[in-house]
Amino acid sequence: MTDDQVAAAWDDPKLANVLYHDWEAATYDDKWHISYDERCIDYARDRFTHVAGGDGWPYDRALELGSGTGFFLLNLMQAGVARSGVLTDISSGMVEVAARNGRALGLDVTAEVADAESLPFADASFDLVVGHAVLHHIPDVERALREVLRVLQPGGRFVFAGEPTRHGDYVARRLSRLTWWTATRVTQWAPLRERWAKAPAALAESSRAAALEAVVDLHTFDPDRLAATCMRAGAIDVRTVTEELTASWFGWPVRTFEAAVKPGALGWGWAMFAYRGWMTLTALDERYLSRVVPDELFYNVCVTGVKA
Ligand SMILES: C[S@@+](CC[C@H](N)C(=O)[O-])C[C@H]1O[C@@H](n2cnc3c(N)ncnc32)[C@H](O)[C@@H]1O
Repeated sequence: MTDDQVAAAWDDPKLANVLYHDWEAATYDDKWHISYDERCIDYARDRFTHVAGGDGWPYDRALELGSGTGFFLLNLMQAGVARSGVLTDISSGMVEVAARNGRALGLDVTAEVADAESLPFADASFDLVVGHAVLHHIPDVERALREVLRVLQPGGRFVFAGEPTRHGDYVARRLSRLTWWTATRVTQWAPLRERWAKAPAALAESSRAAALEAVVDLHTFDPDRLAATCMRAGAIDVRTVTEELTASWFGWPVRTFEAAVKPGALGWGWAMFAYRGWMTLTALDERYLSRVVPDELFYNVCVTGVKA
């Protein structure tokens, strides 16, 4: 990614999304610790059932918007939520990796480039539409939701998970910035530099990516307003749930720290600490804090609804 490309994408969120996610595609699964085994199958299924419940499976034909490398739908299919699927994304780099992942898993899926605001599918061609961490990148969310309802069969369901809430995102961003600022300075200290500091070229690349991130992340959501947008688009039986409070206060600095230091500097012990810490705090959030803390303060919002 060059400075000129970043400048060209500055006023064009869709171009920025293509550029940023094409650039991220090859390393995306590693960066986000995405796998297609029990760990992520459970994670994807739990996100789905948390908001949409466990009834009505398996769906025959599912569509994913902004699939990235296929994390959500491929793992939902492995969990038995859908029999066949179509992975779509605006980034051709992501679509290529998603198609490869689907083939490697031997699932009944195809993958193609598609903009969520104008889907290249006939009316009523799916009985499930899903997405994970995609709505906040789409300029006109209500238009995309109208497209979702158009391509769903009557009675079909949509599930979008992993969208940032306004309050959750505010806290997470500040924690991440503080972590980045601290880590990139401390690792320049001579005794630490060789083992921990990222190469200058890699740091410059990360800064360009961070500049684009500010363009691709278009929205944060208030759960009630997101539900209202779904209903305006024509959905019924709309429901939202939020999740991750302390888990996001821990998870964002951890991921930012991983991105700020030399690749490979943090070993297996760190990976275990990060994973176990996140699991423990997620359990704390789910079991206790979700009963007493207002839902809009949590980091993630998930929404589901049905086509009448
Ligand atoms: C944060 S990534 C999430 C990827 C994947 N769903 C996951 O959870 O790992 C967001 C994805 O949405 C895609 N995207 C952004 N804008 C889009 C649009 N208008 N239509 C379709 N996909 C879009 C990006 O290219 C990117 O792959």
